[in-house]
Amino acid sequence: MDEMKVLGIETSCDETAAAVVEIDKSLNCSLLSNVVATSMDLHAKYGGVVPEIAARSHIESIIPVIDEATQPVGWDNIDAIAVTKGAGLGGSLLIGVMTARTLSIAKDKPLYGVNHVEGHIYANFLTTHSTPYDYQLASKAPVFPILGLIVSGGHSQLVLFRDHFDYTLLGRTQDDAVGEAFDKVAKIIGLPYPGGPSVGKKALDGNAQAFDLPKAKMANKYDFSFSGLKTAVLRQAQAIIGQDYTFPSKDLPDRLSEAQKADIAAVFQRVAIETVVDKTILAYEEFRPTSVVIGGGVAASPELRRQLAERLPIEITYQDPRLMTDNGAMIATLGAFKAQLGQPTDNAYTLEPQPNLSM
Ligand code: KG4
Ligand code: ZN
Repeated sequence: MDEMKVLGIETSCDETAAAVVEIDKSLNCSLLSNVVATSMDLHAKYGGVVPEIAARSHIESIIPVIDEATQPVGWDNIDAIAVTKGAGLGGSLLIGVMTARTLSIAKDKPLYGVNHVEGHIYANFLTTHSTPYDYQLASKAPVFPILGLIVSGGHSQLVLFRDHFDYTLLGRTQDDAVGEAFDKVAKIIGLPYPGGPSVGKKALDGNAQAFDLPKAKMANKYDFSFSGLKTAVLRQAQAIIGQDYTFPSKDLPDRLSEAQKADIAAVFQRVAIETVVDKTILAYEEFRPTSVVIGGGVAASPELRRQLAERLPIEITYQDPRLMTDNGAMIATLGAFKAQLGQPTDNAYTLEPQPNLSM
């Protein structure tokens, strides 16, 4: 087809999001609308996403969010619907998938159930927009082979894309995601959720060499593990105040000085980010990709950007931050490529969420 417009729907975690993307026959992608409603504030007091609260927020937000995203385009001009089918929280995914199935049937549009993590990479293919907002988009699309690093609150993965829909998962986390580790460490030292920005800010006042923390050794060199690092932080915090492992973690924030918290934040951040960057460099050297692209909330980390700029031989183009965290545009873009390149559609009567979907 000449041009296609695709609606993308994303509800895998705590963002209810919808967007419309247009793809032309040369595969240039343009963002026509992008709407995100987040329930992050509701989770903040629990220090992490509460699945039941997230699911209830999706129910409340999904119709208004889709209405707002489709309004500038008009349903008659939409050629297909893409929805995140996994990975993610079961109850949250269900709302998006059921809404997309219903719309696909009611509006008679083809349906594509897509992989959330793959979507994070596709957000990098958006190079123009016609929204009223000041998006700073990548100036050109990435070029295959592409090394993709996905670092968020739910995912830590390295993926090698040879071409569209032809990729290999090089490695993934065996336990916590890197963003999740930031969130848990923030909780240990009494900083607010989400932990990435609060730990990053605190780290500015600390000494990143104050002590050291262990890096996990993995059987597959591209796999990640962050739960040991989180435990090492907890033990270090207990030791700093002269206590052993029985000291309750909830009492740590009151006992640590601001300077001690800053050192813990700085050392943890250095080691967590080094772990991600070490593996990215290793994969770069083995596969020599033309482009390296990043997706997920941790991509906002100035420490990650600093270390990558220092160690990676090629320059990384960072997409607009609003397209790196969870959004509908990344799902719409992946759906647009599927539609334009003739990938098979999904059955609107049977598509099911796949919470544990892997790449
Ligand atoms: O992509 P995202 O918005 O949602 C998920 O799919 O998880 O990522 C959220 C994660 C949180 O764990 C948050 O702590 C982390 O991204 N994050 C950061 C920064 N900003 C957000 N981590 C490190 N440094 C940051 N500046
Ligand atoms: Zn995500």
